[in-house]
Amino acid sequence: MISLQGLAYCESARVGGDKMDEAISSYVRRNYNLLIGEGTAERVKLEIGSAKRTPESDNVSTYVRGRDVARGVPSEITLTQAQVADAVAEPVARIVHVVRSALEHTQPEIAADVIDAGITMTGGGSLLREISTVLEYETGLPVRVADNPLTCVAEGAGQTLEDPTYRGALLAI
Ligand SMILES: Nc1ncnc2c1ncn2[C@@H]1O[C@H](COP(=O)(O)OP(=O)(O)OP(=O)(O)O)[C@@H](O)[C@H]1O
Ligand SMILES: [Mg+2]
Repeated sequence: MISLQGLAYCESARVGGDKMDEAISSYVRRNYNLLIGEGTAERVKLEIGSAKRTPESDNVSTYVRGRDVARGVPSEITLTQAQVADAVAEPVARIVHVVRSALEHTQPEIAADVIDAGITMTGGGSLLREISTVLEYETGLPVRVADNPLTCVAEGAGQTLEDPTYRGALLAI
C-alpha cells in the first residue's frame, strides 16, 4: 500500500506465475495420471489459462503431452479452459486472500483512498485472463493491470532510486 510516496503497509505471499504452473501440473497428474514438464504447464497457462470459468471456457481447449505415470509411456490429453481455471483456483484464491488481508490491516484513512486509486496489478501473472476481474469482484475495488506488468517493478525500482522525491522509500522495509 503506497501513500504519500511512501510505504503505508506491506504484506507478501509467495504466489507468482510459477505457482500457477505447478497447480496445472498437479491437476493433470491428479486427474489423468500424466506427468508434464514445467514448460508444458506454462504453455497451457499462456494459451488458455484463466482465473475463472466463463461461458466459453468449456469450448476453449489445448492438447497436453506427457508421460503416463502408470504405464510409463508418452500420452496426450485435451484440457479445457474450465479445467485450467479449476486447476489455478487455489493460487488465485491465495492472491485474493493476501490482498484482502492487506486491506484489512491498512489504516482507515489510507484504506479509504484505495476506493479512488484502486489496485494496480504487476508481474507477469497479472496477465492471466480474468484475474483482474476476480480481484475486482472479491475486493469491490477498481483493479487495473500495469502497462508493462512483466518489467514495471524493475523499471519502477530503478526510477525510485534515481528520483530524489523517493529518497529512502526503498529502505522503509
Ligand atoms: N500472458 C500471460 N498470462 C499468464 N501468465 C503470464 C503471461 N505472460 C507471462 N506470464 C507469467 O509471468 C511470470 C513471470 O513474470 P513475473 O515473475 O514478473 O510475474 P509473477 O510471477 O506473477 O510475479 P512476481 O514474481 O513478481 O511475484 C511467469 O510465470 C509467466 O508464465
Ligand atoms: Mg515470478
